[in-house]
Amino acid sequence: MDLQAIPWYFYEEETSKFWVHFGLVILGFVLAVITLIAQWVKPAPYGKHESNDGNWGPMIHQRLGHMFSDALPGVLMFILVFVFYGNVKEVLNYIFLGLWLLHYVHRGILHPLLMRYRSKQVAIGITLGGFFPNCLFHFINADFIGNAKYPSNYLYDPRFIIGVIIYIFGYIINRWADSKLRSLREMKGETGNFDSPVTTGNGCTGYYIPYGGFFELISCPNYFGELVEWFGWTVATWSPAGLVWTLFGAATFIPRSWHNHKWYQQMFENYPSNRKALIPWIY
Ligand SMILES: NC(=O)c1ccc[n+]([C@@H]2O[C@H](COP(=O)([O-])OP(=O)(O)OC[C@H]3O[C@@H](n4cnc5c(N)ncnc54)[C@H](OP(=O)(O)O)[C@@H]3O)[C@@H](O)[C@H]2O)c1
Repeated sequence: MDLQAIPWYFYEEETSKFWVHFGLVILGFVLAVITLIAQWVKPAPYGKHESNDGNWGPMIHQRLGHMFSDALPGVLMFILVFVFYGNVKEVLNYIFLGLWLLHYVHRGILHPLLMRYRSKQVAIGITLGGFFPNCLFHFINADFIGNAKYPSNYLYDPRFIIGVIIYIFGYIINRWADSKLRSLREMKGETGNFDSPVTTGNGCTGYYIPYGGFFELISCPNYFGELVEWFGWTVATWSPAGLVWTLFGAATFIPRSWHNHKWYQQMFENYPSNRKALIPWIY
């Protein structure tokens, strides 16, 4: 059997670090299953599904909330774990660090500053509900790429090449879709005075039907792009940590895209009937 095909092959074996790592990977898997069920039952109450019932705690600043939940674990903690908890510092480990930061510097810092949120505030429970799982999943991913010893020829390995191509493809879709959503409010202002914007159950306006690119096929290309990204990350790093992170993303995106899709259909009479929720032509 080709030992390199085993996903944990690259990580140091049988040390206490190994057992801690794989214990946390199993915990991540359990969390993904719980998230899938919880998000099906009720979508997290932010954005289109916001509800001001007070169950998710006091409101905090929306942009700061997103930075707290994504930049702290995704950028700061990730770098600290990689540098101080990681034992292997070779070119491939740095390439993976760079790929991760490519996503999270944008997601954690630029995205919250750039997006035109309808509401200036978000419940603290939403922020913490993102922060704590992110700490777990980002820790195990930083731990893996900081400690994995890839063979020197792994740069030419099909897993690395195909995984990175998929990652970049997903990254472009995700970034494009988020900037498209942002542009919907660019000319129209956050409260949307033009083009018959939709008024939600909370009496807030500012939602439009997005058109163009992947929006012609699915309601949530930003989620689709991110799912593709993490799948590519999993293939490239060949890591169980990447796999449970991808599963956790799927556990969020599959139910939330369905709720978003139903929301669009209910809110807009002329919503294109050929669109799917998350996966073009399939789901
Ligand atoms: N890895 C993970 O587990 C995870 C989990 C969740 C999200 N994410 C990522 O984080 C990013 C943001 O996610 P999200 O759930 O906030 O996405 P979203 O609900 O699609 O919203 C993104 C932004 O676009 C605005 N928007 C959405 N639909 C609109 C429409 N029809 N008309 C006008 N504006 C609209 C939203 O405004 P409002 O805020 O006012 O609705 C928000 O500012 C995505 O790239 C996603 O992939 C990752």
